[in-house]
Amino acid sequence: MSELTDLYAEIAVCQRCALSSGRRNAVPGEGPENADIMFIGEAPGFHEDRQGRPFVGAAGHFLNELLASIGLGREDVYICNVLKCRPPNNQDPKAEEIEACRPFLDRQIELVAPKMIVTLGRFSMARWFPNVRISRIHGQPKKIGGVLYLPMFHPAAALHQPRYRVDIEQDMLKIPQLLAQAAQLVEDELEEKPAAQLNLF
Ligand code: URA
Repeated sequence: MSELTDLYAEIAVCQRCALSSGRRNAVPGEGPENADIMFIGEAPGFHEDRQGRPFVGAAGHFLNELLASIGLGREDVYICNVLKCRPPNNQDPKAEEIEACRPFLDRQIELVAPKMIVTLGRFSMARWFPNVRISRIHGQPKKIGGVLYLPMFHPAAALHQPRYRVDIEQDMLKIPQLLAQAAQLVEDELEEKPAAQLNLF
């Protein structure tokens, strides 16, 4: 067993927050342990909770199309979420849920050690791009601690809103070149804050 599969086993029985009582399956994430790119979404939805896999519903199909547009498949990238359990009625993640789940995401980032992290939606973005609006900064990369972060709209939002759809499609097309240049790009500063202090709501 790899350290990542050990982590998945830990996530499967986690009871750190109330979401554990409503889940059918925890959704740890999936992808190669040595992936160059990690995509971080918000939280599992209905289909993800049923299958225990991230991004397998409508938003996931769109994400697959976006990946295909840059010649990538699911098997090439690591995909996970800020929350590992489905919030009831797909409610927005709460600050305490994000905090409770944060050690799992931290460990995933540490173990996969991607060159680039693409945040999908504002909840995933907020940790590395605090107190800014996603509509203002999507598609603008920031390098922190050797990792290149690229904020993008959430595919579920972009799927149904034509103006975001064009944005997410264009932002996705930036990935290959950014990845190729990642090592040369200069570092930005991180003003990291706990979820409780972020302007999420
Ligand atoms: N939306 C997310 O943020 N994550 C999923 O896994 C599915 C839908």
